[in-house]
Amino acid sequence: MARILLTGSTGYIGSHTAVALLEAGFDVVGLDNYSRSLNGVSRRIQEITGKNYAQYQVDLVDSEAMTNVLAHESGIDAVIHFAAFKAVGESSTHPLLYFRNNLGGQINLMQACDQFGITNLVFSSSCTVYGNPEQIPVTEDSPLLEPESPYGRTKAVGEALLRDWVKSNAAQQGKAKHVIALRYFNPAGAHPSARIGECTVGVPDNLIPYITQTALGKREKLTVFGNDYPTRDGTCLRDYIHVCDIAAAHVDAVNHLLNQGSLTAPWSVYNLGTGVGQTVLEIIQAFEAVNQIKLPWSFGPRRPGDVIAVYANNRKAVDELGWQIRYNLEDMMRSAWNWERMQAQDPLH
Ligand code: UD1
Repeated sequence: MARILLTGSTGYIGSHTAVALLEAGFDVVGLDNYSRSLNGVSRRIQEITGKNYAQYQVDLVDSEAMTNVLAHESGIDAVIHFAAFKAVGESSTHPLLYFRNNLGGQINLMQACDQFGITNLVFSSSCTVYGNPEQIPVTEDSPLLEPESPYGRTKAVGEALLRDWVKSNAAQQGKAKHVIALRYFNPAGAHPSARIGECTVGVPDNLIPYITQTALGKREKLTVFGNDYPTRDGTCLRDYIHVCDIAAAHVDAVNHLLNQGSLTAPWSVYNLGTGVGQTVLEIIQAFEAVNQIKLPWSFGPRRPGDVIAVYANNRKAVDELGWQIRYNLEDMMRSAWNWERMQAQDPLH
């Protein structure tokens, strides 16, 4: 049974991926510092899957703590690196926090991989690396434009560091390194059990949690940021993709790395989106229709740094990784709402 190290294992995408890996028969070792997640998530992962896995409280910025875990948990076959901060607005006011946490943590992880002979890595990247694209849909070959935020910068630089790192075989006893970067579009929804989902701390930045918290009455009303964009209804357009489909792509990526071995390119990148874009107003309508709820909302000014429109060409992930999308927009809206209500009744600790 292959052993997979997950950094950020109790975060939004990390926790859904932990479930998918355990269900696929992988052995999982999870690391998280719980700075943006709760350790109760690990109990929920075990509850959903009926399987145990090793979960450690470790901050990747503390390289000694990480190497202590790896010394104890030998035989890691691949790492999936989720651990990072992701609030675009916060990154603009605290760029150094983002550089230190996201890039510092990543450099320590690469060093630990070298030390312990781990040569397979999957990196959480983002469509943010395409900036405000001139042509949509974006393919993996679309130009990488200037990131719109320091958060975006950490993803673009994170990819660049890994591209250089795979070229070096130092300390790898001749084993070639392989890295897959997965560029997520807009993850949405929650596990069908409603036992794990996106845990937002404080006021949500992202659209879907803001919608579900407004539906619950926790927020007074939703503000739609801008109504004068050059899109079909004047609001921004994004590619929303179910978090369980994103999780499944990580299982596919790990299988690809482990089974294709030397046939895999040392460095490859895949877009994870549905290939369809939705505007903010279409998302509100879908949420209202699926859940039979009327949302209070109004237009407000544009949010600085917002990209106008982006959606994915996802052919490469489908063709090369065998990725299959199983959930649609209605599933995302229904599961996000079920998760928010479950959280209100039986909150995670
Ligand atoms: C951004 C990044 C993405 C990153 C994510 C992490 C881009 C293209 N995407 O997503 O890579 O992983 O942040 O947080 O840079 N909106 C409202 N009202 C709200 C909240 C949002 O109208 O209260 C609108 C936004 O203006 C946007 C859309 O909803 O048009 C989606 O916003 P959000 O969920 O924050 O995600 P992105 O900004 O697309």
